Amino acid sequence: MNFIRFSDLCAQGQARGRRVFIRADLNVPQDDDGRITEDTRIRASLACIEMALDAGAAVMVTSHLGRPTEGQFTPADSLAPVAQRLGELLGRPVPLVTDWVDGVSVKPGELVLLENCRVNRGEKKNSEELARKLAALCDIFVHDAFGTAHRAEATTYGIAQFAPVACAGPLLAAEMDAISKALSAPRRPLLAIVAGSKVSTKLTILQSLADKVDQLIVGGGIANTFMLAAGLPIGKSLAEADLLDQAKAVIAAMKARGAEVPIPTDVVVAKTFSADAAASIKKATEVADDDLILDIGPETTARLAALLKVAGTIVWNGPVGVFEFDAFAKGTEGIARAIASSSAFSIAGGGDTLAAIAKYGIDKEVGYISTGGGAFLEVLEGKTLPAFEILQKRAGV
Ligand code: 3PG
Repeated sequence: MNFIRFSDLCAQGQARGRRVFIRADLNVPQDDDGRITEDTRIRASLACIEMALDAGAAVMVTSHLGRPTEGQFTPADSLAPVAQRLGELLGRPVPLVTDWVDGVSVKPGELVLLENCRVNRGEKKNSEELARKLAALCDIFVHDAFGTAHRAEATTYGIAQFAPVACAGPLLAAEMDAISKALSAPRRPLLAIVAGSKVSTKLTILQSLADKVDQLIVGGGIANTFMLAAGLPIGKSLAEADLLDQAKAVIAAMKARGAEVPIPTDVVVAKTFSADAAASIKKATEVADDDLILDIGPETTARLAALLKVAGTIVWNGPVGVFEFDAFAKGTEGIARAIASSSAFSIAGGGDTLAAIAKYGIDKEVGYISTGGGAFLEVLEGKTLPAFEILQKRAGV
């Protein structure tokens, strides 16, 4: 992908003394008292902010937090906890500026955080009037919000149209590079793991990947529907019988290309969905009417691990079993460990996947861990994200 990189502008001295507007994704989870419970996105945004400060720019950063009503700011919408955390991480105070659309006072070497951009009227619908005002605040617009790259809003798209220069920050650039490496020119075999409770929520991903990957590993409720499509019994497991034809079409499309959807040959079942339910391993052909499939079995895990070990590229979205319950976590753990020991380039994304990576402590062994939730899924669906589209356009591509 061709786009202007903020790191290049900084290296060329083009950010010195300039007003730099960074759109970050600082949309972090908070508890009922507004305390930040997980700050990965703030930490992932530091590189861009530090790069801008080191380059001698006057730095403005904004983000959305939650989904507030435009024009109706409430204390719960405030980026104040983010400003505080950012200040701790940067080791300097981060002033929070409200009512900033019509002008921001910031000098080179200074940093300000602009209050929740989604409170501004016209943000969500990408109003041209708002976008032009935002663009007028800066000399350089830096998009560094991969988590919001699938949204075409005034701070993620409109401003990029009208700012004198629009470029990708280091986080967005890293995400773009990792995605290109995994999906545009992958080292083969390319293997994807798509797991989750429902085929319906990931059907477009499955269909899109069926055209690209050499093996498509399905897991969770999605695997149950594929097992049903392959004529296997699934007892009372979660599945979508109305999507059998679509599942069969994915299997057939893969087969026609000489590719494969490896269907589980053994599974871990229980009679109830609970952490203390008795787990038993069964052949996939022997699942009883009152069984619930809650994980893949050891034979399947070993077969998939062998595929992962020889893969050239791995795309991972979703745990293959109910890994929150120890009795049903071995499949996901086996997959995680196989990815960790594979020499393949691996990219992982999605909340549950990140939780599994953290649980098994394999974050250093995964090639790239995406900060995007919905944005990562849209990439897998084969969509061109608005952020990528506009930044390529502004690079003259
Ligand atoms: C996310 O948390 O996925 C991003 O910050 C995007 O948030 P949104 O779904 O409210 O646009």
